[in-house]
Amino acid sequence: MSAPLLELRELSGGYPPVSVFRNVSLCVAEEESVGLFGPNGHGKTTLLKTVAGLLDPWEGDILFAGNRLNAEGRMRPRTSRNFNYDLFHKRRIKAETVVEAGVIYVMQGNLLFPEMTVEEVLDVAPLAARGRTGVAEMRKQVHDLFPRLQERRTSKIRYLSGGERQMVSIAVGLLALPRLLILDEPTLGLSPKLRMELAQAVGRIRETRVPLIIVDQNIEFLTGLVDRLLLFDHGSIAREIDAGSMPSHAEIMAMMFGAGH
Ligand SMILES: Nc1ncnc2c1ncn2[C@@H]1O[C@H](COP(=O)(O)OP(=O)(O)OP(=O)(O)O)[C@@H](O)[C@H]1O
Ligand SMILES: [Mg+2]
Repeated sequence: MSAPLLELRELSGGYPPVSVFRNVSLCVAEEESVGLFGPNGHGKTTLLKTVAGLLDPWEGDILFAGNRLNAEGRMRPRTSRNFNYDLFHKRRIKAETVVEAGVIYVMQGNLLFPEMTVEEVLDVAPLAARGRTGVAEMRKQVHDLFPRLQERRTSKIRYLSGGERQMVSIAVGLLALPRLLILDEPTLGLSPKLRMELAQAVGRIRETRVPLIIVDQNIEFLTGLVDRLLLFDHGSIAREIDAGSMPSHAEIMAMMFGAGH
């Protein structure tokens, strides 16, 4: 087997001094789509923010396309004599460097600039592509994927619906020309109808073979979009399920919390 595109090696992290996830090992191959499912507050976002260079990995390594995406060395623990966080040895590298490598993290809760118009946001998004080529084609693709954004191009973000904002967030991620696209709960707060629409759009993104990590609390949404599903439980990967044997929502609840739920 060829080397994985992304490899997390025994990665641990959190918000010092609170440990959130521990010894997470995970590989994502070229063209692969991986789902991450787990209860609220168990550390999925914290793990992905660490991969994106927004938080320090405490231990372990992040390897992407043969390069290490974290600094070497050990993280110095926080002590009462050393409370200035800037004095710590940081194990993260700059988030810009992670973006430059092509790892694009579309944050949970679609953080966008509310006073900018859709068009303005989509115009600046390709700046994150950092020399990767193909922005013009991607613009066309984004246009085909989300025709509604074209209709709403002169609207300020703050007037968009939750679903439309989510479309803008994903479009921004795509315009960065990802080598790996990470979608953190793209269906959060969406109606079942919008969720279906978004699933279709993500399905079409998947057809382009861009590697994906998708976090979602909705198994029906993930079914058909991922090759593998990882169950995240209290900061660790508890189980891996193949797309061929995707459980129903009830089955997964029983798996994670025991029968009776
Ligand atoms: N900025 C922060 N500072 C301190 N603790 C935080 C911070 N953000 C999150 N936490 C805590 O870290 C833990 C993991 O949160 P995280 O957001 O990673 O979970 P999650 O699995 O993504 O949950 P959800 O499904 O609700 O998005 C929680 O206990 C949360 O309260
Ligand atoms: Mg989260």
